[in-house]
Amino acid sequence: MQEIYRAFRFALPAFFLVAAGASGQDDGRTTAHGVYSEAQATRGEDVYWNVCSECHVEDDFAGPFMQSWSGASIKDLFEEIRGTMPEDNPGGLPEAQYVDVVAYMFKLNGMPTGDADLTSEALDEIEVDWRASYDDVDAGGDAPESSADTTSTGANGDDPAGDAVTTAHGVYSDDQAARGEEVFWNVCSECHVEDDFAGPFMQSWSGASVEDLFEEIRATMPEDNPGGMPASRYIDVISYMFKLNGMPTGDVEMTEDGIDGIDIDWRPSYDDPATDER
Ligand code: HEC
Ligand code: HEC
Repeated sequence: MQEIYRAFRFALPAFFLVAAGASGQDDGRTTAHGVYSEAQATRGEDVYWNVCSECHVEDDFAGPFMQSWSGASIKDLFEEIRGTMPEDNPGGLPEAQYVDVVAYMFKLNGMPTGDADLTSEALDEIEVDWRASYDDVDAGGDAPESSADTTSTGANGDDPAGDAVTTAHGVYSDDQAARGEEVFWNVCSECHVEDDFAGPFMQSWSGASVEDLFEEIRATMPEDNPGGMPASRYIDVISYMFKLNGMPTGDVEMTEDGIDGIDIDWRPSYDDPATDER
């Protein structure tokens, strides 16, 4: 489950992670101290429903997501969100609306409210302090209910490279990727850009089987209709993701039966693909 979450998280720039690990002062202000107001969270909720809910569900921002920011300053979280969201218009909202929606995220995580609004000047002085529960608070911070926690993205440790079939071996065809591209444009592009599926995202799945990736995507996407497509379309769109990552094509197509025998082998470049071994 940890593994899954790692795979599904934003790739956090390393310096956030360092900040998260290093800053442990107990006397600093944190989100445990009532740093936003009820009214502000309500404004943030409006932003959420007017803008973010087009692509997100509230659970995206509770539990594991916020936990992963624990120890970072609110400013880091704010800058990351302003720098990337809404995905179709990053930075496109007034600054105050980003702060408000962050306050709403705190509310979703059960963090206590106070008398004053969170202001943009104070963001770098306050740390995110995520807790499984805030006893003295009634706001329902629902525990993370990570979807699909039974699938394991864990590396198939018992299957080290050797003679395993991997995505380096031309396991999907050009035609399949072209069909997958249509799925992408018809369905996924409503919320995603192609870059979501290239680079760090696919790298984080390296070592897992294609079936693990398939099960995770089918269980959660499209976010407004999880599992709502035939299996073959999920597999086609995965082949398109492989294409976006420069993984070599071959003469065969991936099928639902075969994908548990294929490991994801992400590489920065496939200049000399080993397409021969299959
Ligand atoms: C209605 C909007 C919406 C649609 C349509 C949608 N997604 Fe998503 N998807 C999201 C959101 C929002 C997230 C981030 C969820 C989170 O924050 O945990 C996401 C996350 C993902 C992730 C994880 C990304 C990562 O960086 O870890 C994958 C993979 C994914 N989507 C695949 C797909 C595919 C494939 C399709 C098309 C079949 C699709 N999605 C359609 C909204 C959508
Ligand atoms: C057009 C669709 C769209 C809209 C609108 C949108 N998002 Fe996103 N958001 C996404 C997708 C897709 C992802 C996953 C990106 C990826 O795979 O790297 C995402 C990821 C995120 C993440 C990281 C989630 C995680 O689990 O790490 C945060 C935080 C976020 N969005 C906040 C917001 C907020 C706040 C708003 C509203 C102001 C918003 N988004 C509006 C599509 C959208």
